[in-house]
Amino acid sequence: MLSTPRIVLVVTGLLCLALFAKLWRDPPAVPSYLESTPLGSHGHFSGNAPAEESETKGDAYEGTDADACTGLERLKDVVFVLKTGASEIYEKLPIHLATTFACGSDYVIYSDLEQQFGVVPIHDALASLSHDIQDKHEDLAQYRLLKEHVAGGGDAAELKGEKSWGLDKWKFLPMVTDAYKRFRETKKWYFFMEADTYVSLQNLLLFLNTLDERKPVFAGAQVMIGDTEFAHGGSGVVLSAPAVKAFNASYLSDQLSWENTVAGECCGDKMMADVLLKADPSIKLHTSFPLIQGETPASLDWSEKHWCKPAVTWHHVDAVGIDKLWQFDSEWREAHGAGEPTLFEDYYKSFVLPQIRAADGKMKGWDNLAQDWSFRNGDDDNPASKSAKACERFCRGEDHCLQWFWSPGFCKAGKVVRLGWSMKNRPGLGSADDRIAHFGEEESKKAVSGWFLDRIEAWQTAQGVCDRSPWRVSGN
Ligand SMILES: *[C@@H]1O[C@H](CO)[C@@H](O)[C@H](O)[C@H]1NC(C)=O
Repeated sequence: MLSTPRIVLVVTGLLCLALFAKLWRDPPAVPSYLESTPLGSHGHFSGNAPAEESETKGDAYEGTDADACTGLERLKDVVFVLKTGASEIYEKLPIHLATTFACGSDYVIYSDLEQQFGVVPIHDALASLSHDIQDKHEDLAQYRLLKEHVAGGGDAAELKGEKSWGLDKWKFLPMVTDAYKRFRETKKWYFFMEADTYVSLQNLLLFLNTLDERKPVFAGAQVMIGDTEFAHGGSGVVLSAPAVKAFNASYLSDQLSWENTVAGECCGDKMMADVLLKADPSIKLHTSFPLIQGETPASLDWSEKHWCKPAVTWHHVDAVGIDKLWQFDSEWREAHGAGEPTLFEDYYKSFVLPQIRAADGKMKGWDNLAQDWSFRNGDDDNPASKSAKACERFCRGEDHCLQWFWSPGFCKAGKVVRLGWSMKNRPGLGSADDRIAHFGEEESKKAVSGWFLDRIEAWQTAQGVCDRSPWRVSGN
């Protein structure tokens, strides 16, 4: 008779054999981003396998992938150019490999350090700055320190902070010309994004469809600094191949003087617009807000200006938020096809309304970012800030007030719907850090956010049915 340990051994051995045999027959699927050769060659496109075929294979990876990417074949015309930094790359890049770049599109990643990230080469955008700047300019002290730190065995993430962020503006201009050197006119479109930008793939394609790739196109969320209207970088920036070509000529014909200008300017995205304005012929911004915009589903003002438009991008979204948006978009494509735009209305109905309804219009320890009225204790004679009840009563008394927020001594109220975030643990939809109000522990516990569901629903009804036809592409 076999003793118990021997039985265990034999059984384990048999199980191992069975598992080995199974693996032998069905090797695990490789996600498409690993199959595609990253850069500078062109990744292959794996998203057009017929759905039935992958389903019969019973292969979880391929099944999901094929379905999630159906209808996105025109991504082959686009190269995604993602800008990040060595101190945040491990935190922020992986999610894009599993979502944004999972449908076989070409992409190229720029950072402030050259490295190999798994199978993905990461390019140092600063490496093509002139040597004088790299070696001596005070702005780049952090760049030199970073290289030393990493060469000495340090972790780049230890250098996270303001100073690393200070390198950011220097990356923009060299990144554009370097991407052009790699892709030239093999791509119709260049899409520039940051590691906390979410881009809806079907909406991006539907938006690009409304633009003429044979012309020099520069599109993004407009911001003014001085007299320059530029495209906000974190919201995502679109350049057609002719625009990138003109950018290259404009920048490289006068690189030294552009570098000197960057030193005195706040922001690299503004400089991008300056280089394009100086191009021959001059290229002006195609203003694309709010399709391209800088909010998250948690921070957005859900108003008429957005409601019936496709949401091409979101910004300040963390990995959890990017995944949620991705799941939503891929389910949308499966249900409606990639030719059907996803409007802000649709995101609202999935990311905002259900939360407010589930909470029955009231959440504790939550900041809903109401901001059209603001009262504080002692400021004035309005008693709204005295208690949550008083704050709610104030909002009820104003015809257009949809939501209110109270914390000890403060009452705020708003005419547009915002979801906001938990004051303690921020939700996975991310947030614009500079707009997080800082409350003490006690205040956070007592704070309350309220929404008037009756009014909100009446507002929604008043928006009517959105006309999707300007964006829709049939048979996509
Ligand atoms: C970029 O511009 C420079 C300067 O005008 C030019 O020499 C170079 O050929 C351009 N690069 C490409 C890829 O066209």
